[in-house]
Amino acid sequence: MKSFILVSILFLLVALNAFADVRLYPQQLHEITHLYDIEESHDDVDTNDISERTKAARKADQEFWKLIHGENNYKNFDKVIHKLNKAHIKDPSDVYTIAHIGWANMWALSEGIGIGIAQQENALLYIQIAEEKFSQASRLAPDEPRILGFLGYSRLALGAATQNIDLLIKGQANVNRSIDLWPEWAHFGAAYGQDASAPYNSPQFMQALEHYWQTLDVCANTPIDRGNPDFFPYIPQQTLVGPDRACWDSWIAPYNLEGFFLIMGDSLVKAGNTNAAFIIYNNAKLLNNYNSWPFRDLLENRISNIQNNINTFRQPISVGQAVDLETTMIVNTSISCAICHRGDADKYFERPDWVGENANEYFRPF
Ligand code: HEC
Repeated sequence: MKSFILVSILFLLVALNAFADVRLYPQQLHEITHLYDIEESHDDVDTNDISERTKAARKADQEFWKLIHGENNYKNFDKVIHKLNKAHIKDPSDVYTIAHIGWANMWALSEGIGIGIAQQENALLYIQIAEEKFSQASRLAPDEPRILGFLGYSRLALGAATQNIDLLIKGQANVNRSIDLWPEWAHFGAAYGQDASAPYNSPQFMQALEHYWQTLDVCANTPIDRGNPDFFPYIPQQTLVGPDRACWDSWIAPYNLEGFFLIMGDSLVKAGNTNAAFIIYNNAKLLNNYNSWPFRDLLENRISNIQNNINTFRQPISVGQAVDLETTMIVNTSISCAICHRGDADKYFERPDWVGENANEYFRPF
């Protein structure tokens, strides 16, 4: 697989290290973010008032999920945005219509630009819209961990791009809060990007790796042996419901487990811990779903090149640089969402009833 693609802009922006300084003062950060929590909880929205979704919202969602699942070769991006905007005009209180505009813009930034579907000159605009939409959605659904997490990532990206410390602090607070609400899902997002951008011997990199390990601890429901992180014993815990569903494959993310282990394996390779990396990479093969994963060959390539990749993954890359999937950490490529989300979800899973039709009833999705 020698496809050359443009490096993902989003996470390189996060990489501009203003953020690192923020991280150095946890006590101060805690105090400041506490203030923001108060400030942001002013909107009193009675969520019981929210009624059935409009037809336009449900139709827009169908197109949206085709985009995230990689159907139609991603060509429907403009249509998705158009339909979501129309649905938003029809019902401005529909939380997931608003949030999905945010997600579509995050997708444009992380994948769309690299594959020529979205425009590089609009990169800043995509982050700005994403931040605005996730802010709006999270005022309506303040405890929706996924919206809060993505609000955080978009603020960290926008804060880094515009050198806005205030936004970086708020963004980090949002990410932290999403971890409190749903650790099985949100530890991942706190690591993804930071692991690729931070130097391998920096505290930021160590911290990112720690978030991946903690994902495994909360998913296994016990501290995992970091010397031999074989996930096989925990496979019987597989589920589609409750907080643990974020640990497994699902209709939303049909290759979540496979993508996660490839991504975490890359970080361990970068750390130079090739023994653990080998076991982590092989964990991606534990579910039957592995056989239909579009990125199987990429995983095999990672396993064969474990030693060479230590140095490769430590090399810095810059915005706009052409990158090769085989030698680049996933977050910096234009499969940074597809690695978990691309695939024929309907073939392997039933769409949960809280996706689409009744989405507004699920402010906390479990
Ligand atoms: C490691 C795998 C992984 C990666 C990489 C990943 N996601 Fe996800 N994503 C998940 C999981 C798991 C969930 C939670 C699913 C659930 O709610 O059960 C999720 C949830 C979502 C949702 C849910 C929204 C809803 O309405 O339910 C959207 C949209 C989404 N991700 C978009 C993205 C985008 C855009 C990217 C790239 C910037 C991305 N994801 C990267 C695994 C991943």
